[in-house]
Amino acid sequence: MPSVKIIELDREIEILPGQTILQGAMANGITFGFVCGGNAACGTCLVKIVEGLDSLGARNPKEDFLAKAMMLEPEYRLGCQTEVSEAPLVCSILSLSRARERPARG
Ligand code: FES
Repeated sequence: MPSVKIIELDREIEILPGQTILQGAMANGITFGFVCGGNAACGTCLVKIVEGLDSLGARNPKEDFLAKAMMLEPEYRLGCQTEVSEAPLVCSILSLSRARERPARG
């Protein structure tokens, strides 16, 4: 089963082949942004693939459309559209990164 390491959580999870990163994360109790319900319309599920990009398939047409609109570099993928293969991944979930960068209220 493919493993996905999520940098922000310093946690490695297992995801079924063919599941999206978002589906796999949620199956492991990890929730991150998916405002449009996983329909490739909002970009809140954005992940940066740090290792394993070559193992992923090409963006599907819906992801490709939004990626072009957002002018995303290839390593940025939509968690709701990106299916994992057998190869391990290391990724950064941008909504989790932003949450950690928020200053604490004093
Ligand atoms: S959940 Fe909206 S683009 Fe992925």
